[in-house]
Amino acid sequence: MPDTWEALEHDCKNCRECSLWETRTNVVFGVGNQNAEVLFIGEGPGANEDAQGVPFVGRAGHLLDDMLEIIGLKRDDVYIANIVKCRPPQNRDPLPAESEACMPWLREQFRLLHPKIVVCLGRVAAQRMIRQDFSVTREHGQIIEKGGILFMGTFHPAALLRQPQNKPEAFADFTVLRDTIAAVCEHTYHK
Ligand code: URA
Repeated sequence: MPDTWEALEHDCKNCRECSLWETRTNVVFGVGNQNAEVLFIGEGPGANEDAQGVPFVGRAGHLLDDMLEIIGLKRDDVYIANIVKCRPPQNRDPLPAESEACMPWLREQFRLLHPKIVVCLGRVAAQRMIRQDFSVTREHGQIIEKGGILFMGTFHPAALLRQPQNKPEAFADFTVLRDTIAAVCEHTYHK
């Protein structure tokens, strides 16, 4: 695997490790600050992301931007990636084999970024990154330490658009995130 962001992104954009390449318009590699201490992980690109090659640019993405802003962060203060880099047709959940095939890219993003805090947006990311039986409903907002990295699972912004009654709990999770950043991050709020 290459050890620069540019080379990694180049290789990722040519990936054909699973069949999602056949229906993608763009590979959605990830965006944000390559020195970020906080990594957000979603599930996979939707239609807007596939069209633009950028994660979280649709309605759910705007909600994510709003939530970041409430805790004093901009997209460029964090890094945003997905479990799968290519859009699953009809926005279905990624198949386990697709997630597995895509994991090396995320692993390399971890290696280049070495984040202090990882926020998993929704069930697919939380179950892949935290624990296979992670329940967002029951365990959202909890800080879980794994291998020296702090993980949190929270609601997926698209789920919040469908179920806005969960927004207060999601905002509370972001408050926990803000406090955790203040406790463990060196430069996120001091630019
Ligand atoms: N939903 C995701 O999980 N990721 C995106 O990039 C966009 C929507």
